[in-house]
Amino acid sequence: MKVFVAGGAGYIGSIVTQQLLDAGHQVTVYDSLIKGHRQAVPAAAKFVLGDILDRATLDLALDDGPYDAIIHFAAFIEAGLSMQQPGVFFRNNVAGSLSLIDAAVAHGVRKLVFSSSAGVYVSKDSPLVEDDPIGPANVYGHTKRMIEEALMWYNRIHGLRFAALRYFNAAGATPPTRGEAHDPETHLIPLVLQVALGQRSRVFIFGDDYPTPDGTCIRDYVHVLDLSQAHILALGALDEHPVLICNLGNGAGYSVKEVIDTARQITGHSIPAKVVERRRGDGPILVADASRARALLGWEPQIPDLRDIVASAWAWHQSHPHGYDAE
Ligand code: UFG
Repeated sequence: MKVFVAGGAGYIGSIVTQQLLDAGHQVTVYDSLIKGHRQAVPAAAKFVLGDILDRATLDLALDDGPYDAIIHFAAFIEAGLSMQQPGVFFRNNVAGSLSLIDAAVAHGVRKLVFSSSAGVYVSKDSPLVEDDPIGPANVYGHTKRMIEEALMWYNRIHGLRFAALRYFNAAGATPPTRGEAHDPETHLIPLVLQVALGQRSRVFIFGDDYPTPDGTCIRDYVHVLDLSQAHILALGALDEHPVLICNLGNGAGYSVKEVIDTARQITGHSIPAKVVERRRGDGPILVADASRARALLGWEPQIPDLRDIVASAWAWHQSHPHGYDAE
């Protein structure tokens, strides 16, 4: 297959690109490098520098087709930040996605895999299924839902086949090559590991008065390689199913305190932590029921244990203490 990966210089996109290449596919990475890292793009992929909002550059890149599929990772992802700068998120994640989807249709691309999120759901104290109530707690999650809904119409009107993969909390790395390096870093696991590396004095726990056993938020952490594999499977499954909406998570929830404790065990560092106020837009509990992904994609996570996930992230952070910057 010939696959166009928007956002392929990012954390998940670069790993999916590598897996696509390993499986013998031809890949073009399209990335603005606003958030992505040129060094993360596998050498065997073609690279085009461009923003998804820039339709002319997108069209030029897609003229190099025909592409069998587009995988779309090019989004801003910080849920907390989206509550401070909603316009930035609506512009990039909604207007940008529509620009990309229109370009896909104009170039006759038949399949699109979209990075959606657990952030579309109303928080629930048992595993979420895809038909559970939708109700994003933050702008970021809402932008993901808006694009899922738009894709339904593109499917009806243009026959565009799509998979919306609702990731829970992507985590872990593929050491020694690729790992999580966001700027600013807002995600719990990399922040905790930066404390272990001595780059931060402590980690802040955003609220311990949630309705959970230890009062801190519970999330479902899923290894980036397992997430990545689901994209490859979705490309195939779209031949049979024109619309796929699937949760991707391990079905096990860990509180913020449990994640920090796990990182203490893995790193051998005390990792000081301080409880501060809640962060706006955080739901108390988000855990996946991924039965549909197992049934329709044949997805089976290979690295479900949080300790293995944190250990892989720790190995990468130790070998890349400054992310990709030093390369
Ligand atoms: N947290 C802290 N301190 C920190 C950072 C995070 O206590 O310094 C807490 C958050 O409040 C949250 C949990 O750790 O309860 C996880 O936070 P992350 O920022 O790592 O992840 P989120 O759950 O907010 O969001 C992530 C992705 C989104 C995705 C969502 C789905 O960033 O893209 O998971 O669950 F939509």
